[in-house]
Amino acid sequence: MTTILEQLFYSAPGQVVAGKLGLPEPEVLRRGRVGPAGPVATATLAGSSLGTDTVAILGVDTIAALVDDGDELPAYPQRLGALVVDARGLQQLSELEQLRAVLRPAVKGLQPSGRIIILADDQVRGIEAHAVRQALDGINRTVGKELRHGATTNLVYVSADAEPNDLTSTLSFLLQGRSAFVDGQSWTVRSSAAAPPISERPLADKIVVVTGAARGIGAQIATVAARDGARVVCVDVPAGGESLAALTNQLGGTALQLDITAADAGERIAAHVASRYGEQARIHGMVHNAGITRDKLLVNTDAARWASVIEVNLAAQLRMNDALLDGRPGGLADDGRLVSIASTSGIAGNRGQANYAASKAGVVGLVRALAPELAGRGITVNAVAPGFIETEMTAKIPFVQREVFRRTNSLGQGGNPIDVAETIGYFLDPASAGVSGQVIRVCGQNLVGA
Ligand SMILES: NC(=O)c1ccc[n+]([C@@H]2O[C@H](COP(=O)([O-])OP(=O)(O)OC[C@H]3O[C@@H](n4cnc5c(N)ncnc54)[C@H](O)[C@@H]3O)[C@@H](O)[C@H]2O)c1
Repeated sequence: MTTILEQLFYSAPGQVVAGKLGLPEPEVLRRGRVGPAGPVATATLAGSSLGTDTVAILGVDTIAALVDDGDELPAYPQRLGALVVDARGLQQLSELEQLRAVLRPAVKGLQPSGRIIILADDQVRGIEAHAVRQALDGINRTVGKELRHGATTNLVYVSADAEPNDLTSTLSFLLQGRSAFVDGQSWTVRSSAAAPPISERPLADKIVVVTGAARGIGAQIATVAARDGARVVCVDVPAGGESLAALTNQLGGTALQLDITAADAGERIAAHVASRYGEQARIHGMVHNAGITRDKLLVNTDAARWASVIEVNLAAQLRMNDALLDGRPGGLADDGRLVSIASTSGIAGNRGQANYAASKAGVVGLVRALAPELAGRGITVNAVAPGFIETEMTAKIPFVQREVFRRTNSLGQGGNPIDVAETIGYFLDPASAGVSGQVIRVCGQNLVGA
């Protein structure tokens, strides 16, 4: 049932009010496994050709980037799908001008849902080079706020020894509609001997377990993993059994009714995998998605409300990881993927969510601590931190607050569960072997914690 305010907002007078408040109609974002809608311009600023070489592997049409040299601003002959700027090697403040000069014509010439992707050095030496490295982040965040019509910008820090193979899954994700709601973010990609070539079905025959899969974001994660070839194991509480069964039938996976707070939840997941897929079977991807909110101001939060959120959102994950990482049949494979869901609330804090923010910030801590520990086994550990995503969880937020959350990001809209699922698909990809210990916000560059 819609509220009076909703009726007002979506009625003709409501639209006028929205217009008066300066709230534009949000752009329909280009989503899915589709490449850029126009040519990709590439720019090499300080001698590194990694960006251009990687784009060449992806088989997309490229052109040389135009440069603003102070005369009339050069214009691209047709609207650009993307600009990939290789800014690795920029060391001096004066060299930042080179970035401005390629960004200006591209920002003006981008398609709706176009992309700007900036590559930078992960490790630099010297004070000025560090200042330059950080300046790139400031530029990226600002351009994200200035781009219009669903276009995004992101910054990827790359280790010095990375090869094109290490970057293909990242650039392919960023260029495609899969990254529609990832904007103004930065993360790091390192070299990895284990990165295979990218593929349209990167998870073919691999087992991916998703907790909280009966609805919302979890159901989309399972759907995207199945689209990418995975055999999915969908886990949810017995109360979600009917929709869990319907989803697994549709995806051709298996369902496991399980409350993840059970002390032996990890053991039961491994036993399910071993009994359904064979003693030799191992999990490729474990996605810790199940989560709850029990919002109250801290002053009104009792011990039970506190404990339930920490238990589901964090403690259960720690226990399940322990069991799945001990080498048992049906546990996590070496070269496997652990993926968790954090939240922008865990990064910025959020009034009325001390328990939730604690649990989600804890997830970020878990990822950062576990990633280096498991690197020797080829296992990557990453998290997605969603902003406002349209699900049953966020439908419970009062309308005015919900509309504010929805609109206060650079893309002027809420994200869809598939946006979170696609980013998790990027982490699950075997070609993302060099991406570990990272937290990517899927928030349309939400102002919260920006
Ligand atoms: N929706 C958003 O805007 C948003 C934003 C940030 C983070 N998140 C996170 O994304 C994840 C999914 O959120 P959603 O919006 O799809 O939520 P949702 O409430 O729609 O779905 C959560 C699912 O988890 C299951 N679940 C809860 N407790 C469980 C338990 N003990 N054992 C097994 N399953 C359990 C529920 O039954 C449900 O199917 C959560 O971790 C949430 O905190 C969501």
